[in-house]
Amino acid sequence: MIHQTNSLSAKMSQRDPRKLAAGFWATLVVLLTVVACEQRSTETPSAAAPAKTPEQQGKYIVLIGGCNDCHTGGYAESNGQNPPESEWLTGVPIGFRGPWGTSYASNLRLTVNEMTEDEWVNICRTRRVLPPMPWPSLNHMEEQDVRAVYRYIKSLGPKGVKTPPNVPPDQEPATPYFDFVPQHLERLQNLAP
Ligand code: HEC
Repeated sequence: MIHQTNSLSAKMSQRDPRKLAAGFWATLVVLLTVVACEQRSTETPSAAAPAKTPEQQGKYIVLIGGCNDCHTGGYAESNGQNPPESEWLTGVPIGFRGPWGTSYASNLRLTVNEMTEDEWVNICRTRRVLPPMPWPSLNHMEEQDVRAVYRYIKSLGPKGVKTPPNVPPDQEPATPYFDFVPQHLERLQNLAP
């Protein structure tokens, strides 16, 4: 034990204080370089992920926002395999019928063609009309993203025809429709624990 302690203190005393100081400074330089690199990487996005154009960002939001599920015929039914992008968001003439009447997922390609970007922003951020359009979700979309969606849809160009006007609850629609009235609510009792 005594021998070990002696050899340790002997080693310590062998260390050149100048070498110790040089080691300290080298470590400090490495640390500062790491910190500087970290900061730079948070300031500018890395070259591996270049910034998206508004159109690319808009397409991304349309895809993850599920807009095609309702506004593009055949999209949900084919699990997004159809139709091609050139047909996207041209609206669906099959209504959604519920207590609110019958609503139709509009032809957004014509909508953006008929309004300015600012009008689109105003509608998306404030309108809250008929289900099943997820108006409450769209109202919360950040303005920059709403603008990107406009740019994307506009870049696709106008296409298709307008969807039929909404039908009041007490009237029979002249079109096919999905029935949004829940059936057999009494069966909920069977699920009770
Ligand atoms: C569950 C089905 C559904 C989904 C999903 C959906 N919509 Fe809709 N959308 C509708 C229906 C139905 C209407 C008509 C509602 C009304 O008249 O209030 C509508 C209307 C709209 C309108 C008004 C258009 C006009 O000309 O008046 C806009 C804008 C819109 N949707 C944007 C979007 C965007 C953007 C997304 C994706 C983030 C989306 N919708 C997702 C069903 C849907």
